[in-house]
Amino acid sequence: MRDPSPWTLDTIPDQSGRLAVVTGANSGIGFITARELARRGAHVVLACRDPERGRAAVTRLRSEVPAARLELRRVDLSSLASIREFAARWDHDRLDLLVNNAGIAMVPFARTRDGFESQFGVNHLGTFALTGLLLPALLAAPDPRVVTVSSEGQRFARFDLGNLNAERSYRTAFAYVQSKRANLYFAVELQRRADAAGVRLGSMAVAPGLTRTNVLTGGANGSRGALYAKAVDLLVRAAFRPAPEGAKTSLYAATVPDLPGGSFVVPDGPFQLRGEPVLRPRDRALHDLHTPARLWRLSEQLTGVTYALPASPPPAAAPDDAAGRTPCRPS
Ligand SMILES: NC(=O)c1ccc[n+]([C@@H]2O[C@H](COP(=O)([O-])OP(=O)(O)OC[C@H]3O[C@@H](n4cnc5c(N)ncnc54)[C@H](OP(=O)(O)O)[C@@H]3O)[C@@H](O)[C@H]2O)c1
Repeated sequence: MRDPSPWTLDTIPDQSGRLAVVTGANSGIGFITARELARRGAHVVLACRDPERGRAAVTRLRSEVPAARLELRRVDLSSLASIREFAARWDHDRLDLLVNNAGIAMVPFARTRDGFESQFGVNHLGTFALTGLLLPALLAAPDPRVVTVSSEGQRFARFDLGNLNAERSYRTAFAYVQSKRANLYFAVELQRRADAAGVRLGSMAVAPGLTRTNVLTGGANGSRGALYAKAVDLLVRAAFRPAPEGAKTSLYAATVPDLPGGSFVVPDGPFQLRGEPVLRPRDRALHDLHTPARLWRLSEQLTGVTYALPASPPPAAAPDDAAGRTPCRPS
């Protein structure tokens, strides 16, 4: 049932005193998320991979919100060294909010600097490593929150722990939705572990719905040729909403007071493609106890980042993953 007083960007309460990091804040959903947090008084760190695009975003954001308290810092989620450097340089006494927004979608096959398939490497492993390395700063905050941007497309993932890293095959759309399911599993497992450890930390996942951004045309998708660009342009114009609509679920998850940890926030319209933010507690992925725990252990092995959070009580004997295959290794 719809809330009688719908949540809008104007509903966001005062964020003064809150220190936030938004990854991929130079573009699309991340830019709007950073802008609206700053408009409400948060101190926002724009964590961007490209300094020039980052500076352009800061200039644009300041022109729209002159009083914004901003910092630009560099992080490339396709490089564990860059992620470690970002965390090592963290010089604030805490971190109140981390919005894991940065991502790539449907890109041609490539590997990250550390040898991971790029969508799995950037979208999931980079996010996993960054959050783990920032965890001490998050736990130093009185009411820390982590928001991880998944996708409505995660529902179509055939999650295969034996092919996360394109060991057997690579199909770009499959790899994308699988990495977005990994984002959701990560968010729920982080909440489970925080709860098991008795630490105060809220971990939320969101799906933005179809949103007009650079995600299908920027970065590695920029070299796909004129026909691809034309087709995507037509699709995006016809079906995708403006970026402020897509940022609503992230901003809802980041700012609604007392939101239950482990919430999955999606648009309330058909197929979660558009609409107003609503909780989706019945998503099957949220109730899977085994796969998120296995993904977590694998992510720790692959990234070398271990969290200072104990595992939640082990679920009953886990059936092997659907395909019964050995989890991946970086190549
Ligand atoms: N748009 C949609 O319809 C939609 C639907 C479902 C989910 N999402 C999710 O929404 C999130 C935001 O995407 P968007 O739609 O706003 O697309 P976008 O405009 O392309 O923004 C993506 C951001 O991520 C950054 N990024 C990409 N690779 C990175 C890396 N290796 N290290 C650090 N930053 C990196 C990009 O930086 P550069 O500008 O330097 O490339 C950009 O700032 C993504 O996680 C995406 O999967 C989007």
